[in-house]
Amino acid sequence: MPKFSKEPLRGMEDFYPDDLRQLNWIIDTIRDVAERYGYEEYETPRLEPIEIFAAKSSDELVYEQSFIVEKKKGEKLILIPELTPSLARIVAKKSQELKKPIRWYSVPICYRYERPQRGRRREFKQINIDILGDNSLYADLEIFNIIVDIFKEFGATPTQFQIFYNNRRFIDSVCSIILKMDNKNLPILYKVLDKSDKMDEDDFEKYVTDTFQNETILQGIFILKDSNSVSDLLEKFDNIPEEFYKSDGYKELIMFEQYLKEIGISDYCNFSSSVVRGLDYYTGIVYEVFDTGKENIRSIFGGGRYDDLLSLFSDEKISGTGFGMGVLMLNLFLETYDLIPQEVREKDYTDTVYIASIDETVSLYAFKIGQILRNEEIPCLIDFKFKNLKNQLSKANELGVLITLIVGAKEMNKNEVTIRNMKTEEQKTIKIDKLIEEFYYILDEYAE
Ligand code: HAM
Repeated sequence: MPKFSKEPLRGMEDFYPDDLRQLNWIIDTIRDVAERYGYEEYETPRLEPIEIFAAKSSDELVYEQSFIVEKKKGEKLILIPELTPSLARIVAKKSQELKKPIRWYSVPICYRYERPQRGRRREFKQINIDILGDNSLYADLEIFNIIVDIFKEFGATPTQFQIFYNNRRFIDSVCSIILKMDNKNLPILYKVLDKSDKMDEDDFEKYVTDTFQNETILQGIFILKDSNSVSDLLEKFDNIPEEFYKSDGYKELIMFEQYLKEIGISDYCNFSSSVVRGLDYYTGIVYEVFDTGKENIRSIFGGGRYDDLLSLFSDEKISGTGFGMGVLMLNLFLETYDLIPQEVREKDYTDTVYIASIDETVSLYAFKIGQILRNEEIPCLIDFKFKNLKNQLSKANELGVLITLIVGAKEMNKNEVTIRNMKTEEQKTIKIDKLIEEFYYILDEYAE
């Protein structure tokens, strides 16, 4: 019979324990930061009705990149490509009872049928941190503060990453007041700008000219594509109407920049007028976090404010803001700057007890000793290969355990065990009821 492939499906990945330990270390570090800000964890199903994504995420995401399941004719389910619509759903479901603002995080597995490439998979873990029920810029500011703290926690510096931010309301004002563009063209403008850094110059130029035939708008888009400060951007436009400076979009952006300065995180942040994000539901501050070096050219992750997403589920208006971060993308960034300590990948057996049994006659006695240790939450490994003692001790040494218990018929008959300190090679035989005490004694001695 032919053998099946050992490979997972294209774009999917197996995680062996060392790799998983590394990813979990990243997730746990971020979890700690989120909890420091009072965020709580939630979870939602991996399958959802397709409609809740089709309504306000993006056609490309839903119709080109999603895994769709149709078990019952006419009922289309989607393996979630992102989490935000599910978050909106569960907040809307209990919106009356939930205390605002809602500070929540989640680490779902998401699915996108994309071409697998550096940092991009068809199945991936995405850390989501969102705050809902607070319309103010302080909520966005808190999210920026969390992002900066996450990177600082890993030891990253502002020369290695930057949060490039923009505000959709600001772009709306530029387009409607300065470029005199019809509002109905905004969604397409966002698509065009979102693609700008993923396309080469010529393709972009052709794409824009084919999409918009108006010369003022064309010039405006080229300006928006390349500006890295608000003043630099506005200098490129002639005769800006006074009305523009009174618009919410302009005022919000300027105020946000001020806030970033005042809480001391502006070194980590940079305005970029081309950052608009590809999802349809964003309405305010949006951002993408980039590696400033050459190795990881795609954005590491992004997010923004969504004012109207909950309207899919209820008439209540609840605004949210937050981000989704691919764990693999962050992992690449951290590896690039050598920010993952080697020991993170290795299992530490120092606190684990190795139980060596001389032969099979004592096997069940060894199990009982194991139970005593585990009842005290002390991890232990029982060797039930019953090879000679030398062989078992060398296996214990290879793992790097500090304490080995040696169990033979003599010990079993007297309710005893021989405890060996693997570092000093000292060993003594003790009564079983002294085992825990002796374990901690050796451990404490080692720690000093
Ligand atoms: P998104 O930009 O579609 O936003 O995805 C956010 C991040 O998820 C990406 O920047 C990347 O880190 C990761 N990601 C996306 N696709 C893949 C993939 N195929 N493989 C690996 N990682 C991937 C959203 O999903 C929004 N729901 C984020 C959000 C939360 N906005 C507000 N709250």
